[in-house]
Amino acid sequence: MNTDNTSLKLEKKFKEAEDFLPLLGTDFVELYVGNAKQAAYYYQHAWGFQPVAYSGLETGRKESVSYVLQQGKIRLVLTSPLQPEGDINAHIDKHGDGVKFIALWVDDARKSYEETTKRGAKSYVEPYIMEDENGKAVISGIHTYGETIHLFVERNEYEGPFLPGYRVWNANVETKDVGLRYIDHMVGNVGWNEMNKWVDFYAKVMGFAQLVSFDDKDISTDYTALMSKVMSNGNGRIKFPINEPAEGKKKSQIEEYIDFYNGAGVQHIALATNNIVETVTALRDRGVEFLYVPETYYETVLDRVGEIDEDLAPLQELGILVDRDDEGYLLQIFTKPVLDRPTMFFEIIQRKGAQSFGKGNFKALFEAIEREQDLRGTLN
Ligand SMILES: [Fe+2]
Repeated sequence: MNTDNTSLKLEKKFKEAEDFLPLLGTDFVELYVGNAKQAAYYYQHAWGFQPVAYSGLETGRKESVSYVLQQGKIRLVLTSPLQPEGDINAHIDKHGDGVKFIALWVDDARKSYEETTKRGAKSYVEPYIMEDENGKAVISGIHTYGETIHLFVERNEYEGPFLPGYRVWNANVETKDVGLRYIDHMVGNVGWNEMNKWVDFYAKVMGFAQLVSFDDKDISTDYTALMSKVMSNGNGRIKFPINEPAEGKKKSQIEEYIDFYNGAGVQHIALATNNIVETVTALRDRGVEFLYVPETYYETVLDRVGEIDEDLAPLQELGILVDRDDEGYLLQIFTKPVLDRPTMFFEIIQRKGAQSFGKGNFKALFEAIEREQDLRGTLN
């Protein structure tokens, strides 16, 4: 056990959080997709993720194939079935492409499984060992909202490219990264009246603390509304806001998501950068589509947030939003859904002190999403 290392990694930021499930960070996010090879090309060439590892027919795997890509600390796994029927096909049939696994990096996957299942987590997979010539890893898993799974990954005795069974994947074309560093937070959409159930799950089963809560008065426009609570683990490395729809005159983006995803699931993944203008410029130049923010937003934004280091012109040109809290400010922008169904999207965020989630932008953001919903005919 590398206890010295671990205690440094686990400095507690939120005293309400409990210590029975020490999480070192997000290990990887795995999506089930219809065509992993082409999805990998998209994340590589549009998003600047670097090829890391591969597993499929050539490595002796018969049922499915996975591509692993990485940028900064963000590791994405894209998995497609090679055969008809089975869990992966069923997942894609029901949800379209989407996040299946949010894998959490731990020192002890067995203990993580025990501590969470004894507090009521539903088992997905009991602890098992994966092994190859690069060493071994221990994996276990529990269910969270919808058909989404938290895996616990213990990898301190493994030294290969990703996990046992994977081989190094060398790309034949280089792509430049766009400065994405780590996952800031991952948001789950759950159904009507389900938010508190999942907030309780993260509090009781995972030992997380609740950071903030937004009700439909905080997050509403003239037409749509939602509610949200933010859960964090003790060291603040894992933050999971949970959204549920709220009554409005028209159908909210959360309902649209639930309709098309056929249930609860991951709504957005927020990726941190140190230079949002450079990152978003590069993404836009490669074809990633962002939500449109009207010019009127920029007429009043500095009155609301005060002085910022950045020039306003490039922020306006790119559609980057700004918000401030007691600790500083943040810059953020949201992509349009990155899948065929209007389900998952990404946020790009640069924090300059602020630890919040952009409450001051909710209205502008939701109005932007409503314009997109209107184009899709899903607002009514
Ligand atoms: Fe977010």
